[in-house]
Amino acid sequence: MFVFSTYNQIQKHLKKNSGTLGLVPTMGSLHQGHLSLVQKALADNDHVIVSIFINPTQFNNTNDLKKYPQNIAKDQELLNSIDEKIIVYNPDAGDLYPNQVIAKSYDFGSLAFYMEGAFRPGHFNGVATVVEALLRKLKPNRAYFGQKDFQQLRVIQLLNSQLELGVEIIGCHTVRENDGLAMSSRNQMLNKEERKAATLIYKTLEKLSVYRDQRNISQMKAFFIKNIAKEKCLKLEYFFVANPNELIPVKKIKPNKNFWLYVSVYAGKTRLIDNTELKRL
Ligand code: PAJ
Repeated sequence: MFVFSTYNQIQKHLKKNSGTLGLVPTMGSLHQGHLSLVQKALADNDHVIVSIFINPTQFNNTNDLKKYPQNIAKDQELLNSIDEKIIVYNPDAGDLYPNQVIAKSYDFGSLAFYMEGAFRPGHFNGVATVVEALLRKLKPNRAYFGQKDFQQLRVIQLLNSQLELGVEIIGCHTVRENDGLAMSSRNQMLNKEERKAATLIYKTLEKLSVYRDQRNISQMKAFFIKNIAKEKCLKLEYFFVANPNELIPVKKIKPNKNFWLYVSVYAGKTRLIDNTELKRL
């Protein structure tokens, strides 16, 4: 495995090697969800860079940033066990933010307006700033993002086309624990009770995903709230149904249109998000 802290070092390293380049941007504390993106990138490309950088500008809450888990040694061990050729890019903020560590301002229209955009003000400007810097500096052919952060994936697709960055953005399926909980670096912040309770999030989404015709959206939301209320430590932040293209929450489900459910739930103090497609019955 190759570990670099500046993109100049990566450029030098890659100069000798020709072929396609895949990039997997992460904030570290890697789990099987991240690794599924890495495996796909390895299958598709000659070289793979995994960036590990906890991006301060996407945290709208400084406490959340301070608490964000970090374990670079274990991350490197995991990546090395997959493929010794992986290039790890673990920069200081100065390498991605040459001037001030601040977010740029973008206009992603409705895609960044609701859900995470509304509940985490400034979040997508921070994400887009760091992803733009990564794509411009590392110039990958393909970059891999998870559907677990569905809105982020759509925002990055738009960023790539608005700025004509010419990268192929690949969306990858959500990897789950055996009990259905979406894998997340934040799961390790859950205590035993919260971890057990958190399984209700996806279990309830799964139940709702097959009930499309029987329930209107307010009934679906009420069902979600009632179901997670079985666990005292769970608290709903939002429940929305939206078409995956526009990501504008709707009040009614139109037949023959594709809809997904999007939720944010606190398990104790830890904020978890998840989503699933509404199955057409
Ligand atoms: P992070 O939360 O570390 O996630 C890195 C990538 O892994 C994202 O594309 C995310 O959607 C994907 N991912 C996380 N959990 C997953 C799961 N259970 N299944 C499949 N993919 C999963 O998302 C970020 O970092 C940052 O915002 C970043 C894009 C790196 C910009 O700072």
